[in-house]
Amino acid sequence: MSTVDKKIRHITVPRLQKHKGCEPIVALTAYSAPMASLLDPYVDVFIVGDSVGMVLYGMDSTLGVSLEMMIGHGAAVVRGSERACVVVDMPFGSYQENKSQAFRNAAKIMKETGCDSIKLEGGEEMAETIAFLTTRGIPVMGHVGLMPQSVNSLGGYRARGNSKLEAKKILADARAISDAGVFSLVVEGVVEPLAKEITNAIPTPTIGIGASDQCDGQVLVTEDMLGLFNEFKPSFVKRYADLGSVVAKAAETYSKEVKARRFPTPEYCFSSKFRKD
Ligand code: KIV
Repeated sequence: MSTVDKKIRHITVPRLQKHKGCEPIVALTAYSAPMASLLDPYVDVFIVGDSVGMVLYGMDSTLGVSLEMMIGHGAAVVRGSERACVVVDMPFGSYQENKSQAFRNAAKIMKETGCDSIKLEGGEEMAETIAFLTTRGIPVMGHVGLMPQSVNSLGGYRARGNSKLEAKKILADARAISDAGVFSLVVEGVVEPLAKEITNAIPTPTIGIGASDQCDGQVLVTEDMLGLFNEFKPSFVKRYADLGSVVAKAAETYSKEVKARRFPTPEYCFSSKFRKD
């Protein structure tokens, strides 16, 4: 097992490809410049996920997220980070139509955000599009298994790969997009043995979420793991902090102090310096 050089300044796509079978890739989602700058020293990849729609905008699914939203958040994360490779999600409807639509919108995301790569969901049906993009200078991260943009077709967010047929299809999806040229792929919400099988079957690094410790890397939604998104906590999310209660406590104290006129005290006010003239 080799270790990837830690002294590099910016983690590039080719650098990430070398992580297969090496030290696991550390990935987190990010949607804003301040959060990106706090996390940047500790992560290899920021995924500016379309989960932003649910986490920051209160949407019920990721389907309503627009290209403009992804570009705004992608550009913010690029501005806030230095070291991590930044991957921006292509939102629903921005790439599925055909290869030209996918190229046009992927190029727009890359030009207007300065990100390293785009990510798109899909298996065998997206292989031709992925090959089209990757041979034209657009690095692509894939996403198989539970694909939130297909929630209506899949019938919900349940774990995938429980039946032999479903597991076979997901493995075929991973193989197809690996062959098509993705530089890494997110494996989301699949049963553990299948995530392991996919990781062993393809030369491309896998990044698991609700998958397996045997994936070549892991990703979590940052607000989930910080305890900031309390709507719903998937069972695979480990809480590394409980910032939700810290925020609530701070707001409660502020509210009490304002009502009691204990804030602002003189140190938080501008004193007037009247001149006599
Ligand atoms: O949208 C998102 O946050 C994602 C992550 C699960 C990787 O796709």
